[in-house]
Amino acid sequence: MATYLITGANRGIGYEYCHQLKERGDTVIAACRTGTTELRDLGVQVEDGVDITSDASVADLCDLLDGTAIDVLINNAGIIKRVTLEDLDFDSIREQFEVNAIGALRVTHALLPNLKAGSKIALMTSRMGSIADNTSGSSYGYRMSKVALSMAGKSLAHDLKGRGIAVAILHPGLVQTRMTNFTSGGITPEESVKGLLKRIDELTLENTGTFWHANGEVLPW
Ligand SMILES: NC(=O)c1ccc[n+]([C@@H]2O[C@H](COP(=O)([O-])OP(=O)(O)OC[C@H]3O[C@@H](n4cnc5c(N)ncnc54)[C@H](OP(=O)(O)O)[C@@H]3O)[C@@H](O)[C@H]2O)c1
Repeated sequence: MATYLITGANRGIGYEYCHQLKERGDTVIAACRTGTTELRDLGVQVEDGVDITSDASVADLCDLLDGTAIDVLINNAGIIKRVTLEDLDFDSIREQFEVNAIGALRVTHALLPNLKAGSKIALMTSRMGSIADNTSGSSYGYRMSKVALSMAGKSLAHDLKGRGIAVAILHPGLVQTRMTNFTSGGITPEESVKGLLKRIDELTLENTGTFWHANGEVLPW
């Protein structure tokens, strides 16, 4: 039995993490901007009003959780906005950095006092943030922000190893969520999270800082 905190917990992959973790008997703290009945009905601890781009909002979450030990922090919240070379919207690129890269680092840093030796951190990055795997271009804000998140994950893995905290950098696969317009070509959140939890369960200080696909494949940077 362990305590997990998940950001962006109200829908998509975040909700499914809460669902599967609760089912297997773990304690779940579901952090989100707006709680839903479906999430509350899981019987998990819902902390809403948590916007990961806001220092004040994340500080409020920390105050609420002061003294609560977290075994696994899952930085799941993220956004995707279409940015092409023909329509290069710098505000949109900046917004994606704020949420996908800086937001996840803000939450991680703020909750470090709640993590102890043996705790784990998961970062939900994307294969679209793999430079080696970029064969189609475009998606400037999303791709750039996910590279930044993966890099933060690698630095966290080095910086926290001495404290006994391991870090996983994870790609969930192409998943049927609102982010992908529930694409028929994707896998279900159930299948994705089943694989992601296996990766997190297998995370150790020996393999910390690895970039994994939910299916277990190690992905190139
Ligand atoms: N789906 C895929 O195929 C896929 C592939 C690769 C990587 N990923 C990554 O997996 C993660 C989950 O994606 P998903 O498919 O489940 O997406 P989703 O269904 O669009 O859910 C995104 C979640 O992030 C939350 N969020 C967005 N901005 C936030 C903010 N400023 N503060 C707090 N929460 C915020 C959303 O909350 P609201 O409801 O309040 O907006 C929502 O809970 C993301 O990091 C995504 O980049 C997904």
